[in-house]
Amino acid sequence: MLLQPAHSLKGTIQIPGDKSISHRSVMFGALAEGLTEVTHFLQGADCLSTIACFQKLGIEIENTDKRILIHGRGLHGFHPADSVLDAGNSGTTVRLISGILAGQPFSSVLTGDASIQRRPMKRIISPLREMGADISSQNGNDCAPLHIHGTSLHGIHYNSPVASAQVKSCILLAGLYADGQTTVTEPSLSRNHTELMLASFGARITSSHASASIWPQPKLSGQKIDVPGDISSAAYFIAAGLLVPGSEILIQNTGVNPTRDGILRAAEAMHADIKKLNLHEVSGEPVCDLLVKSSGLSATLIEGDLIPALIDEIPVIAIMAAYAEGTTVIKDAAELKVKESDRIETIVSNLKAMGADIEATDDGMIIHGGRPLHHAVIDPHGDHRIAMAFSIAGLLAEGGVEITDTGCVAVSYPKFYQDLISLQS
Ligand code: S3P
Repeated sequence: MLLQPAHSLKGTIQIPGDKSISHRSVMFGALAEGLTEVTHFLQGADCLSTIACFQKLGIEIENTDKRILIHGRGLHGFHPADSVLDAGNSGTTVRLISGILAGQPFSSVLTGDASIQRRPMKRIISPLREMGADISSQNGNDCAPLHIHGTSLHGIHYNSPVASAQVKSCILLAGLYADGQTTVTEPSLSRNHTELMLASFGARITSSHASASIWPQPKLSGQKIDVPGDISSAAYFIAAGLLVPGSEILIQNTGVNPTRDGILRAAEAMHADIKKLNLHEVSGEPVCDLLVKSSGLSATLIEGDLIPALIDEIPVIAIMAAYAEGTTVIKDAAELKVKESDRIETIVSNLKAMGADIEATDDGMIIHGGRPLHHAVIDPHGDHRIAMAFSIAGLLAEGGVEITDTGCVAVSYPKFYQDLISLQS
């Protein structure tokens, strides 16, 4: 697909539901007793993989245009799947469901696409084994396919070497089946949707700074969940609105949980003109409308505790930095290497191809911004966030950009290109 330079972007968009919250709504609804009703669920490929896995485990899930109905069967209501559970491209599905399967009285096999089969699973295998789980990697490479023979579990205090909500959530979900308290401490606080949502389903869970604890629980209860818009999807329109001259975009109903709003903090440091309007709460999560106006950006330093709060937005932040005046340094972000692609490599090589002055480091990148970018053919390596970030770059680059594979955006934002076109008058 060819993305060509845009003159100005104007209008209002309603971005799709948050991916992390959509996954969790299905998982926790399945674990609960009674009906869970979810509105504004993200109908992206990743979340549909989660639905398919739980249907295979015997949970009735109705998916209509307007809502998802999950007929939960309680913590002990799952049936063994009659075939391999397929998480597709979704790391959240594999890692969270593993915590649940570890405590079931049956065995499961869990896999996903080629990208998932390369992503590290040792980060969940090790703590689950500490809890007594019987989990192994079929090919002995600490990647999926994973074989999980459900068993009884012990509570542990796990000091995670990485700030990862997927690791944290996996362990907390296993903790529902453990014989006592389970605590996870992270080096920096990662997104806390699991902690907030499990509490609303009635779990006994507490959190303090970068630690969360859960206690075994006989029963969770079905809930009504309205999923806020995904700030990770809003990020592309934040960047587009800031970078394309003469733009003004209202992004409605965006989740701005402080564990996810790092892009707003980074953008503020870059002197972006973004206003938060109509701040309110939806299903326990802070939500607002973002009014974004084109702005001359300056460079910034992105590091430390800020990284987990914007980890998925780094591809598009790198595009912003390439157009900002000065040198932006992104560090402490080695996790980028183990996402849907090696994002240090996919960002740096594609931005270089467009003429940017950028270098990769071990844990991030250094971007000397302010150079005009030009046409290039962009290979997103099947990574939805790379495809969308470079589509935004194409709106500014001389001659636009050609993205070789745009189908991958269906993972998190199936209507991305429709929404982008709707803003080009
Ligand atoms: C997610 C956590 C993050 C994020 C991913 C979704 C989640 O991954 O990158 O897109 O829903 O828990 P890590 O936990 O690996 O950092």
